[in-house]
Amino acid sequence: MPHNIFILNGPSLNLLGVREPEIYGSDTLADLAARCKEAGVKHGLTIDFRQSNHEGELVDWIHEARDAAQAIVINAAAYTHTSVAIHDALIAYEGYKVELHISNPHRRESFRHLSYVASAVDSIVLGVGPGAYEMVVDTLAQVLPDQV
Ligand code: DQA
Repeated sequence: MPHNIFILNGPSLNLLGVREPEIYGSDTLADLAARCKEAGVKHGLTIDFRQSNHEGELVDWIHEARDAAQAIVINAAAYTHTSVAIHDALIAYEGYKVELHISNPHRRESFRHLSYVASAVDSIVLGVGPGAYEMVVDTLAQVLPDQV
């Protein structure tokens, strides 16, 4: 079985491309999903790319990943800075976990400086721009143990 990666996106990331393009760029979420899937094909990884504006749905997906994915990449968006529920769900997930943000929250408003996700993950990618998504898929191909 190829490794499966859940790439989970939180609130308002469905508006990528039109939302504050000076911060988040002009790629849409569909563009990023397509590029991640292409990178997955290149490395023999399957990519399950999702977005939700609802905290509980993100929590349910993290729970689902326990039996369905070898890694989670999560851009929890605004929930990064508020959600103990997402933190707890990630702690209970035993696969490899990456926190991703398109921007660098530490260079922005002080309310973005706290991440409830950071202490629950293995790696953090900040401020690389939209290309971070496919970059992380490429990196996971190196980091995940060889498939049997
Ligand atoms: C973001 C940063 C968050 O602070 C913000 O709420 C987002 C996007 C990013 O990808 O840079 O919605 O997660």
